[in-house]
Amino acid sequence: MMMDEKSTYDFMAQEELQSIRNQFPILQQEVNEKPLCYLDSAASAQKPLTVLNCTHDFESHDYSNIHRGMHTLSMRATAKYEEVRGKVAGFLGATSESEIVFTSGTTAAINLIAQTWGRTQVRAGDEILVSELEHHSNIVPWQLLAEEVGARVIMIPMDDDGVLDLEAYTGLLGPKTKLVAVNHVANAIGTINPVKEMASQAHEHGSVIVVDGAQSAPHMKIDVVDLDCDFFAFSAHKMYGPTGTGALFGKAALLKDMPPWQGGGDMIDEVSFAGTTYNDPPMRFEAGTPNITAVIGMGAAVDWMQGIGIKKIATHENALLGYATKLISEIPGVRVIGTAKNKAGVLSFWSDDAHPQDIGTILDQYGVAVRAGHHCAQPVMKHFAIPATARASFAVYNTPADVEQFIIALKKSLELFA
Ligand code: ALA
Repeated sequence: MMMDEKSTYDFMAQEELQSIRNQFPILQQEVNEKPLCYLDSAASAQKPLTVLNCTHDFESHDYSNIHRGMHTLSMRATAKYEEVRGKVAGFLGATSESEIVFTSGTTAAINLIAQTWGRTQVRAGDEILVSELEHHSNIVPWQLLAEEVGARVIMIPMDDDGVLDLEAYTGLLGPKTKLVAVNHVANAIGTINPVKEMASQAHEHGSVIVVDGAQSAPHMKIDVVDLDCDFFAFSAHKMYGPTGTGALFGKAALLKDMPPWQGGGDMIDEVSFAGTTYNDPPMRFEAGTPNITAVIGMGAAVDWMQGIGIKKIATHENALLGYATKLISEIPGVRVIGTAKNKAGVLSFWSDDAHPQDIGTILDQYGVAVRAGHHCAQPVMKHFAIPATARASFAVYNTPADVEQFIIALKKSLELFA
């Protein structure tokens, strides 16, 4: 039955998929005596050999602190580090690498905007529109800012498919709107948001738009110029790179006038006790020694994704998502949470028979790794009147067989609870 279904989805050719999987040592193992079926890439993706080897080689041969030494290793490390800035600019479609700030990840990037652009531009009485679909890291920084300056955070609502209500959004935009915060892809339920359209409307009202791209950068072609977003943030570890790094794209015209966030080395022009002047962007926002090796690994991850082709990755993942959605919808008592037409990477679900955490625990006995919980998106859970979901998430290394292993294990898990 499953085999018949499969042929209607546009999966990557088996040989190519196998050669991709062969590049992930971690996937070549059994968990609880079953082949590992890793469906938790939205939390963190696994790393191919090229990334693992690149960081190992860098630390074995070229490692040193950057921007600080005239010696050979420091110059080599600096050149490799700065080369990644260009790669990330290309990956995001930015016109200049000076628009790319390295951060420790998406959360740090959003907090940076709130604490710099936000604290200088948002005033008492201003409004910050935040979508109901957000991860806490694109809600709480705005609440902290709003509390500090006396602004208001207003929710852009979604419907019961998990699609943002664009009419409501249009109605909420007004002269007081200073900033719109929205994810490109919702981490909890996978909705792809119409960021380009939302940006255009925000700009008509003189507002800036901040896009959390943590769940889109791994799955689709990003073009910040075409989207016309003012800020775009992503994390390397969700796109086959190391943890502890990521990047913020900011339009040059905005970055130029933003004050620093953290003070320290590298972000200054001149320091004296009479006063300090600051470096230009992006260095103004990169105080202290960064996670140098992780940035180098992020460059390797970008190269690796581009080597496969982002479009090919997206097509295969959409096939996995479509196939899994079809099969799960045939299981009685299971409700897919998030039924938007445009989705990427994520299949969240609820069963009346078992708590998501119990499902996650039993699935693990079958070698299947999913995430269970509120996914740091409690407002999304509240909308659907559930405390949590179980969430399967896909990456380019997943196979139709992974989907089948997951579905079979889920059926068996639910039988235990029925
Ligand atoms: N934000 C990550 C997730 O959605 C951790 O799982």
